[in-house]
Amino acid sequence: MLNILIISDEAKQIATLFKSSGFAPEVEDRGKIIEPGLPEISGNHDAAFLDLDTDGWQERLLDARHAMPVIAFSRPDLGRAVEALKLGASDYLEKPLTTDSVALAIGKHKRRLLSHKYGFDEIIGNSTAMQEVFGLIKKAAASESNVLITGESGTGKELIARAIHRWSPRNEKSFMTINCTAIPDTLLESELFGFEKGSFTGAQYTKKGLLEQADGGTVFFDEIGDVSPLFQTKVLRVLQEGEIMRIGGMRQIRVDLRFITATNKDLKTACHRNVFREDLYYRLNVINIHLPPLRDRIEDVALLARHFVQKHAPKRKDIMIKCISGEALSILLEHNYPGNVRELENIIERAISFANTSEVLPSDLPPALRAVQPSRETKGRSTAIAQRLKDAISHIERETISAALRESGGNISRAATILGIYRQQLQRKIKQYHITA
Ligand SMILES: Nc1ncnc2c1ncn2[C@@H]1O[C@H](COP(=O)(O)OP(=O)(O)OP(=O)(O)O)[C@@H](O)[C@H]1O
Ligand SMILES: [Mg+2]
Repeated sequence: MLNILIISDEAKQIATLFKSSGFAPEVEDRGKIIEPGLPEISGNHDAAFLDLDTDGWQERLLDARHAMPVIAFSRPDLGRAVEALKLGASDYLEKPLTTDSVALAIGKHKRRLLSHKYGFDEIIGNSTAMQEVFGLIKKAAASESNVLITGESGTGKELIARAIHRWSPRNEKSFMTINCTAIPDTLLESELFGFEKGSFTGAQYTKKGLLEQADGGTVFFDEIGDVSPLFQTKVLRVLQEGEIMRIGGMRQIRVDLRFITATNKDLKTACHRNVFREDLYYRLNVINIHLPPLRDRIEDVALLARHFVQKHAPKRKDIMIKCISGEALSILLEHNYPGNVRELENIIERAISFANTSEVLPSDLPPALRAVQPSRETKGRSTAIAQRLKDAISHIERETISAALRESGGNISRAATILGIYRQQLQRKIKQYHITA
């Protein structure tokens, strides 16, 4: 069930081809066709087929390649094929597309498509602690046991819960997130179990509760450590009996559910203090996955920072941000992240909106992070070095741009493609360096 995006002036005809290929039913039902002039590219697709005979294909490619594999195609044109692959296309096909060539390309990239779909590779971490977590996710996905995910706020508990569901045999059924603290006791039963028509004033129709809606799938109780005693009792009963009863209902309804819960509280202590039921705790905590705070796995920071640059860079339409400078990274490695991965992601997202070059620099980071000031002497010396470095970079940039313009015969769009940057970015540079095209 791949969700394919087709970007082409001839999208409708091409979609017909997908229909008549072996992949047709999936593509036909779920594929979205974007007509030219509608530039929206979301991360909801598994792959894109991009027509290089369509105007503005470079921009589309730069946008889409972050989110999914892009398979480029065009009338036979070697130059264009090379250009597209350089800009990040995963593959290239010649027109006319055939059912075979499409099937073959999809088959070839299926592994990558599926890993995108299952999102496992979106959980970043090469620390020993995270490698252990990956192992536990796989074990938890293969089993039906309940899982309790613990860890400070922002460590990725929800991300892990979703990954377990996606990797489990229940992945075609729903993943129901229930934010426990958002449901007051007065609405608890009607929300979780639903009600029958006429069971109370205002019940003008029969409504299934969240648990019944999730039948066959996974229920994720988030912030389970903050729930009321009533909530605990009701949930325990469902866990024990595997049944629910709608308000005003006459019969028990069997539900087939797998429970994943998460909390940033220490439930064991809560049990000792008699604020959390011990019997419920043991039922929930069959498999425990603990996410250590980011400050205890600082070796993940560089990888995460790069991942978030990739994730948020497409938000800048005027400039193509590719990486993070060594200096900026050193600053990030010094921080201790009370808000964990979420805090790091926010820092990078902010930096992306502040950046003026293709690299995230220290000046793009929040001032509080840059607080450690060098001494005056080293400052003077480093300012002189920094200036020399700046001059050298400007010189190289000017030379490279002039060479690209010569190669493209003065065509700015083509020069931008050669350089792998956006046209607007190149125009700004040309102005800045007073280059005559
Ligand atoms: N290992 C990781 N790799 C990539 N992104 C991550 C990772 N861990 C967390 N994130 C990202 O950090 C943000 C916070 O993660 P998440 O919402 O899962 O945290 P949480 O533990 O549920 O926090 P809270 O307790 O506050 O609800 C999300 O945007 C998530 O995608
Ligand atoms: Mg959460």
